[in-house]
Amino acid sequence: MLKSKKGIYPGTFDPITKGHINIVKRSLKFFDKLIIAVAENKEKSPLFEVEERVEMIEEIFEDNDDIKVVGFDTLLVNLARKLDVKVVIRGLRAVSDFEHELQMALTNRQLCKEFESLFLMPSIEYVYLSSSVVKEIASKNGDLSKFVTDNVEKRLNDKFEK
Ligand code: COA
Repeated sequence: MLKSKKGIYPGTFDPITKGHINIVKRSLKFFDKLIIAVAENKEKSPLFEVEERVEMIEEIFEDNDDIKVVGFDTLLVNLARKLDVKVVIRGLRAVSDFEHELQMALTNRQLCKEFESLFLMPSIEYVYLSSSVVKEIASKNGDLSKFVTDNVEKRLNDKFEK
């Protein structure tokens, strides 16, 4: 299989879910190194600080030296330039993701013409999963084990003081 050197997988990851992890694993079929870029994204009023989101992801991938996790609060294309990455990976779940993703991909290309976007589909069980759904389940005491890893479940429970 053709492999490019580095890819960047950006998102808010508030928090990272098993759906995101599924995309990370798929990405590693194509890239030797993957940078997971955690956007501060204050507009979304995240539950977790960017440092906490970075930490949770680092805990999950601590045994994998091919994955690096960074927080950022700049344009994605500027971060990518700084890190010398030219391919962005995004997960495409249902058709409803398409329009927003197309807009982001084309805007990023206008901002940096060498930048390419690669879309990967997660496994079927994660197609309707989102970080908001996970937070709602956590806030209402639901079982999170199908959707997030143990370390993330613990942090969610701490946030909602269970
Ligand atoms: N599994 C589970 N959930 C997934 C998923 C998957 N495979 N793929 C996406 N999602 C979820 C996310 O958790 C998020 O859920 P939420 O809305 O409940 O939090 C939702 O789908 C997608 O959110 P969206 O806002 O579209 O993307 P994002 O939060 O993942 O990240 C950035 C968006 C950070 C990539 C984008 O805003 C960005 O690049 N920002 C930097 C500034 C910039 O360059 N702006 C110009 C871009 S054109």
